Amino acid sequence: MENKSELFYQVLRSRRSVRQYTDKEIPREALDRILETGRLSPSAANGQPWSFIAVTKEHPKWAELHEVFYKDGFRKAPVVIAACAQPSKAWVRKEDSSNYAWVDVAIAVTEMILAATAEGIGTCWVASFDLARARKILNVPDGTEIVTLLTLGYPTEPLDIRKKDRKPMDQILHTGGW
Ligand SMILES: Cc1cc2nc3c(=O)[nH]c(=O)nc-3n(C[C@H](O)[C@H](O)[C@H](O)COP(=O)(O)O)c2cc1C
Repeated sequence: MENKSELFYQVLRSRRSVRQYTDKEIPREALDRILETGRLSPSAANGQPWSFIAVTKEHPKWAELHEVFYKDGFRKAPVVIAACAQPSKAWVRKEDSSNYAWVDVAIAVTEMILAATAEGIGTCWVASFDLARARKILNVPDGTEIVTLLTLGYPTEPLDIRKKDRKPMDQILHTGGW
């Protein structure tokens, strides 16, 4: 395999969800590169139906926001990115009226996660948190939905990248039809 693609596959393989973070802060330039990756990600009809709210440790809201997490480990994450969807700005598939806002946001989050991984920064998609409280703390307007609070920081333990608990290919792949 060519060197460049081998590196990329290494990044993909080394991504794990990180739920315990050290106190080390994320350099601003690294955070900016991660956010820029989200900005450049693809979306249906290029609708870009997203907004990102970055909350870093020096912000007065950081400590308050961390109270919305149910797992203690997340409370130390030096950065949280609230990835928000704006369905009114998203492409809608006319055949079945599917709104692609959450899909678009999920793609942006995935790309930011991979950029963070390449930077040696751990992340976790967090969907389960005190949603009403988070909306209030972050002043999220009506019609805008928090898809995830993406936590970012340096992992306390080296990640176990050997085994990912996944369904085998023959359970999920259909060839030529269901
Ligand atoms: C949409 C989504 C929501 C998730 N929400 C949470 C969450 O609320 N809390 C949590 O601890 N992990 C959450 N996770 C992480 C998953 O549990 C994790 O990705 C999965 O177990 C596979 O492990 P891995 O990420 O280490 O490969 C979420 C992941 C995704 C993709």
